[in-house]
Amino acid sequence: TDLAALAHGLPKAELHLHLEGTLEPELKFALAERNGIELAETTVEQVRATYDFTDLTSFLAVYYPAMQVLQTADDFHDLAWAYLQKAASQGVVHAEMFFDPQAHTSRGVPFSEVIGGYRRAIVRAERELGVSGELILCFLRDFSAEYAMATLMEALAYKPWILGVGLDSDERGNPPEKFAAVFARARQEGFLLTMHCDIDQVGSIDNIRTVLTGIAVDRIDHGTNIVEDPSLVALAIEKGIGFTTCPVSNSFVTEQMKADEIVQLLRAGAKVTVNSDDPAYFGGYVGDNYAALAAQASLSAADLVQLARNSFEASWLTPARRDAYL
Ligand code: HPA
Ligand code: ZN
Repeated sequence: TDLAALAHGLPKAELHLHLEGTLEPELKFALAERNGIELAETTVEQVRATYDFTDLTSFLAVYYPAMQVLQTADDFHDLAWAYLQKAASQGVVHAEMFFDPQAHTSRGVPFSEVIGGYRRAIVRAERELGVSGELILCFLRDFSAEYAMATLMEALAYKPWILGVGLDSDERGNPPEKFAAVFARARQEGFLLTMHCDIDQVGSIDNIRTVLTGIAVDRIDHGTNIVEDPSLVALAIEKGIGFTTCPVSNSFVTEQMKADEIVQLLRAGAKVTVNSDDPAYFGGYVGDNYAALAAQASLSAADLVQLARNSFEASWLTPARRDAYL
């Protein structure tokens, strides 16, 4: 339909995308062969058959083991380059991309290989696709605060290549306050801050309150549960906080897109955005997410235009570059 074409064609920024979540089965096989790794599955269909997720935990149990094929800077380059080309084909002109260094350093891959490869793909995308890219370093919240702090210290050598820091992985038992000191230090070092407040969490409203009022993040990833507390919604709007929602991902981890919550935030005037999260696993890149939400919530063309506009307003582009897109 015209709306689906608009969903894919509108120039947009992607703000919630895990680079490790863009590992398509075909590339996984190619990297396994290059690195001499034996995989349990031998066909793309067998790999996709393992994508039977019922919640965040069952997704993460597939997501982390797949990363063993990522070993050298070339591998990380190839992963990010494949994503950036795909994103460009769905209207992305700017991408602020999460990466999970601890998912690699914890298995012996040097931080320098990870960020070196990603950075090369970003420079290439700027030149060959006209797409700008930035990196957001995510700490894995199921590891210790000490390991997160050590990772932050290691990242300081690459400051010009890292725009901000985030927090992902399993939220259960790993609330934002566990990382308060790490995020305070990151802020001191000049990084922008965001955190996942996942949508399948009982009590996540308390975590949303903490990240807004205590940690004082610049953005919230997912966070649609905020509609449970209208006073927090009002606070987020007053502070100009962006929400990076991921409808297709939501439909995997909770069996619904959270379309009502997303639309409620949109109508309230919050800077709510639509993103793909882990597109290789959930089967939808960012344009597909705009289209799926539009179909589910009967959005208008004007709504899609507003969502794309929000993606630039909630981005961490400099004001001059952001305004050029508005
Ligand atoms: N939530 C938490 N951790 C993650 C996600 C997510 O959506 N994607 C990759 N790691
Ligand atoms: Zn995410």
